[in-house]
Amino acid sequence: MAAPETTERPDPAAFRAGLALGGAALVVFALVLATVHWTEPRMAQNRARDALALVREIAGAEADPPGALRPLRLPPAGELHQNTAFTAYQLLIDGRVASVILPAVAPDGYSGRIELLVGIDDQGRVTRVRVTRHHETVGLGDRIDRARSAWITQFDGRSLTDPVQERWNVRKDGGDFDQITGATLTPRAVIHAVAAALQYAARHREPLFDPAGQAAP
Ligand SMILES: Cc1cc2nc3c(=O)[nH]c(=O)nc-3n(C[C@H](O)[C@H](O)[C@H](O)COP(=O)(O)O)c2cc1C
Repeated sequence: MAAPETTERPDPAAFRAGLALGGAALVVFALVLATVHWTEPRMAQNRARDALALVREIAGAEADPPGALRPLRLPPAGELHQNTAFTAYQLLIDGRVASVILPAVAPDGYSGRIELLVGIDDQGRVTRVRVTRHHETVGLGDRIDRARSAWITQFDGRSLTDPVQERWNVRKDGGDFDQITGATLTPRAVIHAVAAALQYAARHREPLFDPAGQAAP
């Protein structure tokens, strides 16, 4: 005699619970997407505003008169790790370009890219350097941020001849610059990026220090 067929019928309660769970997951996913969509432009705007505040901090009080800081669009620059056209700033005093502020990237931080602004005067000396964006570890690599320590001020007044090229490094590597205790990778990356910005400024004096503000094609 054939065994009676057992057809298992889905439990309607479990089915409804599954549907509810799936629906809730979809709603959460849509909310996350919408939040990213609406907040990203505002975050980009905030980043641009903060970067401009740092540009003013680097330029100092001389940037106060209206028009003293002029944006200069420049073509991609491998030395600065700028892969697309980018904006630098000229500080104009009495009709001459007293200094430029370049955005530079150190691609090899402990946790990836470190974005910097490097101020350079018409004698090829660093005015100031500030970090605009990084992902370095809190309490270690983040000491490159001026808000966390004075480490970044050691570049002030330095140039490609002070120190000579081989000494643009941390002391541990025979260089002239302090490392950060327990975090050598971050300072190493920043020091090399600042040196690269000085080299770029030396090679591109013409567009950078042109008071007519004509960027290279
Ligand atoms: C959790 C963790 C986070 C770290 N964060 C950093 C950092 O932000 N920057 C950095 O230079 N080193 C960081 N280090 C230390 C590096 O791994 C490395 O030991 C240090 O930079 C010394 O490098 P050196 O051997 O070339 O001198 C971190 C290590 C650990 C375990």
